Amino acid sequence: MQINDKSGTTAYQASPDRYNTIKYNRAGKSGVLLPAISLGLWHNFGFINNLQNGRDILRSAFDYGITHFDLANNYGPPYGSAEENFGTIFNKDFKPYRDELFIASKAGFDMWPGPYGDWGSRKYLISSIDQSLKRMGLDYVDIFYHHRPDLNTPLEETMGALADIVRQGKALYVGISNYDHNRTNEAAEILKRLNVPFILHQARYSMFDRWVEGGLLNTIEQQGVGCIAFSPLAQGLLTEKYLNGIPKDSRAAKDLTYLNVEDVNNNIEKIQLLAKIANERGQKLSQMAIAWILRQPQVASVLIGASSSNQLKENLKALDNLEFSNDELELIDKIVS
Ligand SMILES: NC(=O)c1ccc[n+]([C@@H]2O[C@H](COP(=O)([O-])OP(=O)(O)OC[C@H]3O[C@@H](n4cnc5c(N)ncnc54)[C@H](OP(=O)(O)O)[C@@H]3O)[C@@H](O)[C@H]2O)c1
Repeated sequence: MQINDKSGTTAYQASPDRYNTIKYNRAGKSGVLLPAISLGLWHNFGFINNLQNGRDILRSAFDYGITHFDLANNYGPPYGSAEENFGTIFNKDFKPYRDELFIASKAGFDMWPGPYGDWGSRKYLISSIDQSLKRMGLDYVDIFYHHRPDLNTPLEETMGALADIVRQGKALYVGISNYDHNRTNEAAEILKRLNVPFILHQARYSMFDRWVEGGLLNTIEQQGVGCIAFSPLAQGLLTEKYLNGIPKDSRAAKDLTYLNVEDVNNNIEKIQLLAKIANERGQKLSQMAIAWILRQPQVASVLIGASSSNQLKENLKALDNLEFSNDELELIDKIVS
């Protein structure tokens, strides 16, 4: 919602109905409830993007009860700029709502030059959280993740750094991302010994990428940790946007590193078949793709990206139909396998 103040500029007042739409799920066995759909700021929030568009997306998200925003030190581009833009928007719109928000950041991928700006050392993680808090203008984040496993750094060092970040009051909870099930088990045991609240594993999961089904979902359930599933739309492939070619402003046309025209061409037949099933269910493909992930009991939240508030609104309608018949599930398995 927006209101005009006396100076004519638009101030934000969150919708009074914001808690009437979305469903909230428990993150593992913790006390934290997360919206079934969360918003990630990996793309569309950097200095290369339109700040007002990002602001619209964040406002719409919160108006619909999306209380969880996911960032990382290197989101942009350039690196750091998504956090800086989020800080600007937070300062203008969301400060009064700080206690209603669950804000994440991470470190683990390359961030600054030299040996201390990448991977999993204590030196990197502790410097990085300080930088992130400064960029966002926050006193603390709700959860801080180690972004990817680092096989060359002792796990005790990386987990010890996460623990100290919590003890210093810079994060309330910790998480890990992209760890396989063995390393997740090891990390969980260390964090238990350190008495640190480890509540989320952030993992790529979509109909096109089902690696988490090979053990990770069971492991995190046994450890009492929740899954937050990222790239549920396979970066846009699992939507209807590529059914009639590649739109100029789409990620596949712009982002040659993570998604490209070849990815679209290699998957278009599957996308067409999946879209047909979605339509028979009375859904858009994006909605079915999100609902399909939420059927897993270990998944606390599906972490989507959006380049407009309309996409976000469309995706939220996934929650209107979360049931799948066995026939539908079998057909989907057949198409994507
Ligand atoms: N932990 C990790 O290693 C990691 C890695 C990747 C992502 N993440 C997190 O996960 C979040 C989501 O990742 P993601 O952006 O790859 O997720 P995604 O939801 O799979 O893809 C989002 C993209 O799909 C397109 N889209 C979304 N809804 C649409 C709709 N209704 N119709 C048409 N197109 C639609 C948009 O692309 P267009 O720009 O083409 O419109 C949008 O930017 C990130 O922001 C980040 O927070 C974490």
